[in-house]
Formats: sequence, structure tokens, C-alpha cells
Amino acid sequence: MSAHSSFLLFFILHSLQFLSSSTPCNAIKKSNPNNLQYPCTPPYDSYLFCNTSNPIKTRSESLISLLTIDEKIQQLSNNVSSIPRLGIPPYEWWSESLHGLATNGPGITFSGAIKSATSFPQVILTAAAFNRTLWAEIASAIAVEARAMYNTGQAGLTFWAPNINIFRDPRWGRGQETPGEDPMVAAAYAIEYVRAFQGQYKRISRRNKHGFLQRRVLKNDNGSDRLMLSACCKHFTAYDLEKWGQFTRYNFNAVVTDQDMADTYQPPFRSCIQQGKASCLMCSYNRVNGIPACANHDLLQKARTEWGFRGYITSDCDAVATIYEDQKYTKTPEDAVASALKAGTDINCGTYMLRHTKSAFEKGKVSEGDIDRALFNLFSVQLRLGLFDGAPARNRFRNLGPQDVCNSEHEKLALEAARQGIVLLKNDQKYLPLHKHSISSLAIIGPLANSTNLGGGYTGVPCELKSILEGFQEHVENIYYAAGCKDIPCNSSSSFAEALSIAREAEYVIVVAGLDLSQETEDLDRYSLLLPGHQTELVTAVASLSRKPLILVLTGGGPIDVSFADGDPRIASILWIGYPGETGGRALSDIIFGHYNPGGRLPMTWYPESFTNVPMNDMNMRADPSRNYPGRTYRFYTGERLYGFGYGLSYTSFTYKIIAAPSKLSLRGFIKAEPQMSMLSERSNAVDYILIDEMEYCNSLRFHVQISVTNNGDMDGSQVVLLFSRVSKSFKGSPERQLIGFERVHTPSRGIVATSFYVYPCEHLSIADEHGNRILPMGDHILILEDIEHAVSIET
Ligand SMILES: *[C@@H]1O[C@H](CO)[C@@H](O)[C@H](O)[C@H]1NC(C)=O
Ligand SMILES: *[C@@H]1O[C@H](CO)[C@@H](O)[C@H](O)[C@H]1NC(C)=O
Ligand SMILES: *[C@@H]1O[C@H](CO)[C@@H](O)[C@H](O)[C@H]1NC(C)=O
Ligand SMILES: *[C@@H]1O[C@H](CO)[C@@H](O)[C@H](O)[C@H]1NC(C)=O
Ligand SMILES: *[C@@H]1O[C@H](CO)[C@@H](O)[C@H](O)[C@H]1NC(C)=O
Ligand SMILES: *[C@@H]1O[C@H](CO)[C@@H](O)[C@H](O)[C@H]1NC(C)=O
Repeated sequence: MSAHSSFLLFFILHSLQFLSSSTPCNAIKKSNPNNLQYPCTPPYDSYLFCNTSNPIKTRSESLISLLTIDEKIQQLSNNVSSIPRLGIPPYEWWSESLHGLATNGPGITFSGAIKSATSFPQVILTAAAFNRTLWAEIASAIAVEARAMYNTGQAGLTFWAPNINIFRDPRWGRGQETPGEDPMVAAAYAIEYVRAFQGQYKRISRRNKHGFLQRRVLKNDNGSDRLMLSACCKHFTAYDLEKWGQFTRYNFNAVVTDQDMADTYQPPFRSCIQQGKASCLMCSYNRVNGIPACANHDLLQKARTEWGFRGYITSDCDAVATIYEDQKYTKTPEDAVASALKAGTDINCGTYMLRHTKSAFEKGKVSEGDIDRALFNLFSVQLRLGLFDGAPARNRFRNLGPQDVCNSEHEKLALEAARQGIVLLKNDQKYLPLHKHSISSLAIIGPLANSTNLGGGYTGVPCELKSILEGFQEHVENIYYAAGCKDIPCNSSSSFAEALSIAREAEYVIVVAGLDLSQETEDLDRYSLLLPGHQTELVTAVASLSRKPLILVLTGGGPIDVSFADGDPRIASILWIGYPGETGGRALSDIIFGHYNPGGRLPMTWYPESFTNVPMNDMNMRADPSRNYPGRTYRFYTGERLYGFGYGLSYTSFTYKIIAAPSKLSLRGFIKAEPQMSMLSERSNAVDYILIDEMEYCNSLRFHVQISVTNNGDMDGSQVVLLFSRVSKSFKGSPERQLIGFERVHTPSRGIVATSFYVYPCEHLSIADEHGNRILPMGDHILILEDIEHAVSIET
């Protein structure tokens, strides 16, 4: 579905219409036109559902009890009609905020008092920073801008971000929107984003005794009550294919094993709900083992019963229609509506439920109780958002407005995010950084180098439009520019000449190559991992005649097979900048000129082109040598890689040490008593593993790993510490290694910094068995820190 800017107009017309037809004149005179967007304002303020002294549950039930069946059905769409007789204006559920306020949903319009909003880097680049504080600060900043736009009537309060599907296949067009391929990173990102965005946790930054800013998360509420905004964990679940061969996201049946479900596809969603306390879950288009996600009762109910989800479930846009139309899962549209409602979907993005629920109800396929249950979830979230609290006079966010959008603090944060995320992939003989004062001339070549469209999918209207070229013009006087290729598809080499001529003349040359949304986006997967069209030729041609080795800058969210460049000595340095957002040019020049020492790490594996032989529709994570299947992501992939997960260089070098970690850990006192123990010994003579379900007090079973990081160079730098583990014995389907902790630390030149991780064996050292149960293997677990290994033996 596409953005709709006429929403606001509709909104106002609609509201005026109901007021003029049903409100006494004095009420119109008294009311501020801005209040039209608020229910529960006089004379409609005396309903029980408006009375904030009552619990949310009571208010929600009361509102439902006042509605007719037709009014109820009108609520089941993202674009909800008004209920004039109760003074309830229309509401648009669909607003987008993936990495800044975006125009993809009709809930947001930039024609109003606020004309633009901060465009942070696309999520995949922000993820590469591996910095939880940064992630939370970005989500808080977006939330402030969102509330400001709500106050000016330009946005709703319910947003459909973050996208936390696993970046399973390098060809996926929406991998750029996600935090990458690791379930633990995706889970951590989800928690930070949702907590900060929903405003349930307040951040307090203060300096510790070493002068570093520290963040405290304070729960200001019980999670169950007030929301600043609503965030949505999407797309639930096993969704990560747009269009490949005969498969489209609308008709795809994701065949997923219990083991992959348990340790790859579900963990980000579980954390998003359990720890993030998200108030929305979006079910995806695809089927999961035969059943459309939005009609998948077991999946949706599990989120509520096992993970404690309290919020509303929306379908992806038109995903209820696809149950019938694309998936042919039901015989009639009414059955599609019934299957979604009965499974636990509460609202359909699109008009399908509006059109078919009444007849499903009349045919007895849907009961009023089914609809009431959906409405209860929907109204509860709206009530928690304060939508029915009357005019926002006592609302603590009422003062947010245009001055809080695109302010210098948010601009700085966007710049900081791009600087922290950018990954240095190659740097022969410390070619970078360049010393800008000694540069006589610089050529910048590439079809995106002078583009201001660097935001990736789900971008709105950025505060400032600056290209990469402009980012360099601020530093160097003598700059030449040529596109080289007409556009990113680069179908012809006809514009190479100008690029080659400036490359010959300039002292230093930077080529900006890679991907944009013409190659990878919603509804568009790639078929190749190589640079598009003639781009490789352009890079090679420039490299062969430039005076000095060149610097290659890669854009895009998906990995690119640039092994030609990695192996070419005429290409000294390679940087990956993802979709760096509106401050990307400045961030890149800051890094190239050494004002910032790069510390980003790849959140996804960079595969060689040969990986495209793997069928994209194969959801298996684990390698299967019997059918030549190499597996996916660093956790299971057994083939060659160009750059691995967690790879990234710095201008300085670091050494790591494990200062303290136990070598043995006893489970005595953590295994449940008798009956389970006897089952356990029946299982095998030697106890190989223990089911996590057979353990208790898992939250207090932990150990401490202390690590030191030494900066050996003469430049300060932030570095990402990644701690992995693997089991020493082989279990069927156990990962090659799995990430169990990460932390970005700043280490001054020639300095040493200590950091530490708590390892919770039940969570971090357990693996999923073939039935999807978590098991904790006995014996040695190897902790891995860069090239250091440390064994911890777990014993009963
Ligand atoms: C919302 O629904 C109304 C009818 O209830 C329609 O007139 C309007 O065009 C719809 N708006 C959008 C953005 O689809
Ligand atoms: C709101 O509800 C409370 C508690 O039920 C009640 O005491 C109070 O009178 C109500 N206020 C109004 C204005 O109805
Ligand atoms: C928060 O939860 C605690 C324990 O569950 C309860 O005692 C307390 O009253 C709750 N506070 C609010 C504001 O609901
Ligand atoms: C870069 O693009 C802008 C806007 O399209 C254009 O005005 C400008 O001339 C271009 N710069 C160069 C050096 O070509
Ligand atoms: C570029 O070439 C590809 C493959 O040859 C073709 O599918 C595409 O339409 C071309 N694009 C343009 C803009 O000419
Ligand atoms: C993490 O991000 C925050 C917010 O941008 C920043 O202040 C901090 O320096 C970053 N930490 C490191 C080690 O780079």
C-alpha cells in the first residue's frame, strides 16, 4: 500500500462534518479547532470510558458496550471512521517510524506546521554500531518528533516499527530495515527501540567517575499502563522473502523446523514482547508451515499466553485478504476474516474486514464476542496512549512541537549514528585516514555520490538534504565529481570517460559504488550479490589509472561480493556505509579524514556470489552436507565468506584479554527435584544435557567474565567487544558459535579499558534441540573473544 497524504484533509473534513451535524453551537464556539482530534472533550466528556479514574479494562469494556455491531466492524481497519454520536473522531492506526518518521503510512503527513523530520541511518547501519545506548537514544528522539507531529495533527500515536525479522538471506530486499542476522542482536535492538519509543523507560545520562556517560533505565510505570507511543514488533514470523522466482511474500509458505523456530526466528519477537513490552505485534503475509501467519492461532496465542503479550495484533497490509486471495487457505473471504479474528488478529490493515466482517457475522462465521475481543485489545492500547483522556491540557507531552523536530541535538545524533555504524572493511598499510591539509585534489566518482537520497526504505522528508559530495566539499577545496554511471543499475559504460579523466587528474580518488532501492527494497529481492550492471568495470577502470590507490565506498543494506576489490592492491581501502541518512556525507568525510576512528562491525555475513545457488525459499538455517546445503548466517554457514559477521577494522589495533572467568560451574541446586531427575537418568547413562525446563532459579545461575581491551595505537577509538560461545561436544544442529554478549567500549590511545559480561548459562549457553526445546549441554563450553578461547565446564 502506498502513502496517502490526503489523510489530514480527510481527517479535518470528517471531524467538521460530525461536529456540525451533531453538536450544539455553543460547543463549537468554545472548542479549540485543535481539539477536534480529541475524543472525550465537551460535550462528550461524561462517558465512563472518558473517566481516567477508572481502570483501562473498565473503560475499554464500557466503550465496547456502547457500540452497535456496525460501529464495531468499522473499527477493524487501519483507517477507522468516526463515531459522531459519541464524539469519537476518526483514527489512523498506520504510521511508520523505522529510522525516523516516514511517509510510508497514511498516518503521517509532512504538509503541516512540520515539514521534515530527522532521518537517521537505515537500521542495518545503526545496528553495526553495536551500541545499545545509541539505539535507545535514536528511538527516544524519533518518539519526541512523533509526539510533536501528533500534536500538530500530522501523525498518529501507533507506529509499525521495528522490523526484527532475521536477515536470513543476503538477497532479501528488506534486510536493510533489520538489525541483521543474529537473533541476540535483533532481540537487544528490539528491546532498546521499543522501551525508548513507548516511553515506558526514562533515560538518565550521567557521568561516572571516569567521565563516561552512563545510562540508567528507570521504569516509570508498570508497563501495563501509560504509553507515550505504541511500537510494533514485525513481521511475525519467519518473514524474509519479497519476490524470488515463483515465490512472493503474499503466497510464500515458509517451511520452518522447530529447531530453527526456537533459536532463530522467534527469539527477537519473544524479547520484543517480554522485555520490550511492545504494545503491538504485526502478523506477516507468509504462511508458516502451511498456515497463514495472521490465521495462525497457535503462534498468535503463544505470544499472549507464554510471552505475556498485552497489546493489539495488526495484520500486515492486506494480509487478511491474502489468506483467501493469494494463499487460497480459505474457501471464501468471510472464512478468511473469521480465521484471522479467531486466531487472534485484532485489526486488518486495509479494507478487507470492513467489507467482509458483516456478512461473516450474519453467516455465523464470526461472533460478536470475536469482534469484542479485538476491540478490547484495540481500545486498551488507545486508552493507554491517552487518546480518550480529553483535551491534552494535562498531557505530559503537550508541549512538544515544531521546535523539537530536526533540532540540533537530533541532527548530532544522526551524525553520531552514521559515524558509529560505518564499517572499515579494508585498509592496506594504513592508507586511511587521509590528512586533508595535504590533499591537493580529490575526485569523487559514482552515481550516488551527488545524491541526497541516502536514507534507504521507509524514509520521510529529511531535515537537510546533503550529498556525500557536499560532505567532502566542507573539508577539501579542490574536488572533482563525475557520476561514472548514469544510475545505480549502471546499464552502460557510456559515461565512464568523464570519470576516468578526473580520476587521472586528481591526487586521491574515492569511488562510491553499491546499491540503492532500485536493487533491494520492499517487494524486490536481488538475484546477484555482485555490484549492479557495469559498476565493477567502473571501479576497476578507475583503479587502473588513478595516480594513487583508490578508496572504495559501498552503499546499500545487503552484502555485496566485492572480492575483486578486496584482492586488488590498487584499491587500498573499502568502507561500507549502508544507507547513512541525511548526515551520511559528513560522517563519511569525518572518517576518511580521521576525525572519527571507525568502529562499526558487520551485523551480517558477506557471502560470495556462489551463495546465490542456494534456493532463497529454503528456510533451513542449518547446513546439510547430504544435499550440498551450506547453512545460513555465521551461526550455521559452513562455506567461504568474504567478510564474516562481526568483522570491521579500526585505524588503531586492539588486544583483548579474558582477565577472569570460571573454568567450572556446578548446577547443584538448580536442577528440579526428584521426579525429573529420575526421568533424566533414564534418558541416558551419562548425562549429556539437561532440559532448561528441568531447571529452576535460572535467573540466579550466572557467572562473570571480565575482559580487558588495550588500544595499541596512537588514536583513541571505540571498539566493539563480541563474546561468543560454542559447545565442545557435537549436538545435532548445534551452532558453530553463537553471540552471548556485546558491548561497545571507548579506549583511549595506548590505554586499557576493562569491561565485563554476565553469562546466564540457561539463556546463553543453551541450544535448541530438534523439537525446539532448550537444552544445556554438560561439559565444556568454549567462550570465544576474538582469537582467545576459554573453556568453562558445566557439571551437575
Ligand atoms: C478512510 O476511510 C474513509 C471512509 O470511511 C475514506 O473516505 C478515506 O478515503 C479513507 N482514507 C484513506 C487514507 O484510505
Ligand atoms: C470517575 O470515576 C470515579 C471512580 O469510579 C468516580 O468516583 C467519579 O465520580 C467519576 N467522575 C465523574 C466525573 O464521573
Ligand atoms: C506496579 O506493580 C506492582 C507489583 O506488581 C504493584 O504493587 C503496584 O501497585 C503497581 N503500580 C502501579 C502504578 O500500577
Ligand atoms: C549535484 O547535484 C545537484 C542537484 O541535483 C546539482 O545542482 C549540482 O550541480 C550537482 N553537483 C555537481 C558537482 O555536479
Ligand atoms: C538494465 O539492464 C537490465 C538487464 O539487462 C534490464 O532488466 C533493465 O531494465 C535495464 N534498466 C534500464 C534502466 O535500462
Ligand atoms: C554509544 O552511543 C552513545 C550515544 O550516541 C555515545 O554517547 C557513546 O559514546 C557510544 N559509546 C561508544 C563506546 O562509542
